[in-house]
Amino acid sequence: MFYYSNMKKFILILSLSTQSFASTPIDERLKDYIQEFNLTAATSPAPRRNKLFAIGRDLFHERRLSGNNNIACMDCHHPRVGTADGLPLGLGEGATGLQIGTRNRVQGTGKVLARNTPALFNLHNVNIMFWDGRVEYFPETKTFFTPAPLAPEVASTLKSALAAQAIFPMVDHAEMRGQKGTNQIADARDEQEAWDLIVEKIMNLPGYKEAFAEIYPGEKINIGHFGEALAEFQSHAFFLSDTPYDRYLKGDIEALTPKQKIGMDVFFNKGKCGDCHHSEHLSALDYDGVGAPQIGPGKENGMDYGRYQWDGDEGSRFAFRVPPLRNVALTAPYFHDGSIATLEQVVEHYDDIKGSLESYKIVQQLQNYLKPLKDHDHSINEALYANLPEDLPLKLEFTAEEEEALVEFLRTGLTDMRLQGNLSFIEKNAE
Ligand code: HEC
Ligand code: HEC
Repeated sequence: MFYYSNMKKFILILSLSTQSFASTPIDERLKDYIQEFNLTAATSPAPRRNKLFAIGRDLFHERRLSGNNNIACMDCHHPRVGTADGLPLGLGEGATGLQIGTRNRVQGTGKVLARNTPALFNLHNVNIMFWDGRVEYFPETKTFFTPAPLAPEVASTLKSALAAQAIFPMVDHAEMRGQKGTNQIADARDEQEAWDLIVEKIMNLPGYKEAFAEIYPGEKINIGHFGEALAEFQSHAFFLSDTPYDRYLKGDIEALTPKQKIGMDVFFNKGKCGDCHHSEHLSALDYDGVGAPQIGPGKENGMDYGRYQWDGDEGSRFAFRVPPLRNVALTAPYFHDGSIATLEQVVEHYDDIKGSLESYKIVQQLQNYLKPLKDHDHSINEALYANLPEDLPLKLEFTAEEEEALVEFLRTGLTDMRLQGNLSFIEKNAE
């Protein structure tokens, strides 16, 4: 017994000393970046409220939440497809199927959406939602910026940007509401009337009224409560941040492989990625243009001005929210319109932004869409360049080794260990 515990102590000392031996010059540099770029491991959401989570899970899968009872959140944000849809541009209500293996999500009567469907990982404390930030939560004043006004009782029920975001897909005609003339919710006068009709419809289904009454006794349930439940579900089901990178930040300096460390070094140094992708979410959570090509229908006539639509600031033209990067390997294609197919191509884009944009064309038209997607219109290139951040390097001159290491850091260093090669873990976590 005595011998055994001493032996354990010896092993402990041995392992501590190998750790400090293993602190190499590259670890010293990475330590500096942790300081400089305010890097922290992902923080967990507040403890799970099981009953609210269960309602949220039901609502997330509930097709009757849509005007024509034909689409649920899950149809576009499926756990088996990395909480997104695997397509460059989302397909709205009327589309069917999932992009898994040899199967396809098929357009049917659905519209091609303007934007790429983002993943839902680790969003519980992200205060800006959507590619253009059109939902924002201000924690100091507990107020919201939203694309349509919120009734006071709805605003006071919502507690996060994630909860406020959740009530908007339901009232988007293309996403869930349905085209005018197809159902009562689609024909409602404004968002508030549509939300009221949705609440009425869902509360008349078996189970929901009782379940909400248990959590909010005596309260009149409004769309804000739906948002809260959906946020509770997403916060916990999709909190997936046990990555080698997070483990490294927590002090396990062996968690990242030597190649991932080189990639992280390139990310924060030569690549200048950390100028915009920093802090807890590897995102400044503000808006920038990075010369992304513009494909598909856009917001109007094939154009998408991004943040400019909401703040009217000339500098925001073609600027989009800097996306968080955990589990980014699972959510190809990339950028606000899914115009870039792989992480290698993202890195090659940053390596030579003008070269990438000027040579861009959609290589393969996917059969998911009834008509070929509109390709990038090169006549807007100069306007795109005009709104690149001044200090954004246009050429990075990566060596092949640097590029490979950077991709390795993005692909495996930032992916939850439980998801590497096993997306079904997300489904388990969402049960
Ligand atoms: C038809 C497909 C579709 C459906 C259905 C759908 N979404 Fe989305 N979702 C999208 C697209 C596309 C975006 C990006 C839109 C944009 O930024 O303009 C998005 C954005 C989001 C975001 C923002 C993520 C971020 O990082 O900014 C969240 C959260 C989200 N959806 C949750 C939901 C919830 C909850 C539901 C159900 C109430 C839902 N979605 C239904 C396609 C869909
Ligand atoms: C000037 C700020 C800025 C810099 C520097 C920057 N990014 Fe980005 N990044 C963005 C913005 C903004 C987007 C979204 C652009 C869009 O969709 O139009 C983005 C998108 C991405 C995406 C796609 C994520 C997704 O979900 O679609 C990846 C991956 C990425 N960046 C990695 C990098 C890497 C690697 C570097 C360094 C080589 C880098 N970024 C440098 C701002 C920046």
